[in-house]
Amino acid sequence: MIEIQRPTFEASDPDVEASNPESWVSLRRFLSSRNRGAYLWGPCGTGKTFGAECILAQVDSVSVVTAPEFVRIMRLFSPGESLKKWKFTKILLLDDIDKANWKPADVRSLWEVLNARMKAYKLTSYTDHPTEENTLLVNTTFKARKTIITGNVQADELRSFLTNCADGNITLIQSLFQRLHPIQVLEFKGKSLR
Ligand SMILES: Nc1ncnc2c1ncn2[C@@H]1O[C@H](COP(=O)(O)OP(=O)(O)OP(=O)(O)O)[C@@H](O)[C@H]1O
Ligand SMILES: [Mg+2]
Repeated sequence: MIEIQRPTFEASDPDVEASNPESWVSLRRFLSSRNRGAYLWGPCGTGKTFGAECILAQVDSVSVVTAPEFVRIMRLFSPGESLKKWKFTKILLLDDIDKANWKPADVRSLWEVLNARMKAYKLTSYTDHPTEENTLLVNTTFKARKTIITGNVQADELRSFLTNCADGNITLIQSLFQRLHPIQVLEFKGKSLR
């Protein structure tokens, strides 16, 4: 039998982490931070997917998709159907964002997913005993719906890349990144670990 071990922070190699100490500290804090998004970027084989999966291992509802798979699935199914898959999970990992052949409609689909996740993020609770002074709206809590993205290019390059893919629709890309705000950008340096 082949045993597949999922990456976890416990199993993570301290020598590997020593190449990018600040990023690894931030990864460990990501779940409890107020960041809605994280963008892990750097050369191939430096531990971005591994790091993201360590976060996923801490959470009971996750979805993982590579960008080429995301594009393929979105093109195959109706937006409503494919949205269900990604809308409510606590963490979505969109791996290798710069590896897909995004068309403008695919970028809009990504916007739709991130928009749905942002809306699911904000929950409002109401009192059981409303009075005249005490309005119905009592409390707004924030429930984590976080999205982690990995790629090889730095954040500015990713914005230009996606803008080009979206036929120059810069407003769409600004709006897309707004839906990940506040976003933490983590750089991974070093040689490939493969
Ligand atoms: N902290 C770590 N501890 C132990 N092994 C690690 C660690 N980080 C990465 N690795 C191992 O290094 C290899 C490369 O890591 P990973 O796949 O995460 O790279 P990547 O940055 O996502 O690369 P790419 O840009 O090509 O997707 C994998 O075999 C992974 O298991
Ligand atoms: Mg990877």
